[in-house]
Amino acid sequence: MQKQRRAVSATTGNPNSRQTREMVEINLMRHYPRTQRKLTRPRALDPINAAAALRFGREYFDGSREQGYGGYRYDGRWIPIALDIVEHFGLKAGQRVLDVGCAKGFLVKDLMDVCPGLEVFGLDISEYAITNCVPEAKGRLVLGSADALPFGSGSFAAVVSINTLHNLERSRLITALQETERLSPGRSYVQVDAYHNDAERDFFLGWCLTAKTFLKPADWRALFAEAGYHGDYHWTVLEMDPSVNDFGASGAGPNNNQAERE
Ligand SMILES: C[S@@+](CC[C@H](N)C(=O)[O-])C[C@H]1O[C@@H](n2cnc3c(N)ncnc32)[C@H](O)[C@@H]1O
Repeated sequence: MQKQRRAVSATTGNPNSRQTREMVEINLMRHYPRTQRKLTRPRALDPINAAAALRFGREYFDGSREQGYGGYRYDGRWIPIALDIVEHFGLKAGQRVLDVGCAKGFLVKDLMDVCPGLEVFGLDISEYAITNCVPEAKGRLVLGSADALPFGSGSFAAVVSINTLHNLERSRLITALQETERLSPGRSYVQVDAYHNDAERDFFLGWCLTAKTFLKPADWRALFAEAGYHGDYHWTVLEMDPSVNDFGASGAGPNNNQAERE
């Protein structure tokens, strides 16, 4: 796995260890499948779509493609990502891991499958997702918001939050990063929406229904520093189909969740 080390260190979060580790820019989502998304027009331009998505209910997960996932179903795609997370943090049976923005608990299930004995929990703002979670995650998912995590300080060996924190506006997002840090100092991974140039930004604005904070990587790093966040991170950058010049006219959509390096 390619890592970019940054000159920031933090305690491991293990109360028995004085070991320190550097925060790293690393793509733990490198095995997430790339998908071509096609829409007849930029879905985010219709305020009805954004309003429906922001309820994070049935429409967002299992409704139409214009208002969200268009069907959020378990298919095993998180297994290689779970393996990378376990390896990256050196996770072992008996340790506790939290997935913030866990949706239906797919990653919660796969982390437990690839590392038997690991105690994995999830938190999500969506009652719909928690109610409709995979059976293996039943009883492990908590309804709540990333900026008010109902767990004790230092109570997790690692916290992950994938494609979730950017749904908060800036001040709540800073609180969410501080909450992540509180639960597992220096041992976390967040992946957030980012862009590098105007074309990517415009493309994103036509596609994304829910993100409230959307920054360039350098601005994200500044925000991490402002929050005192010392965990690891990477970006979700929507990738334009190079064969398409005009998003609106072509009907082509982005490769969402395609995490690219800066
Ligand atoms: C793009 S989905 C990502 C789900 C999952 N992590 C994944 O990558 O497939 C965003 C998730 O964040 C949840 N969410 C949105 N705002 C939240 C908040 N303030 N606190 C916790 N979860 C939130 C949504 O319900 C949804 O499950």
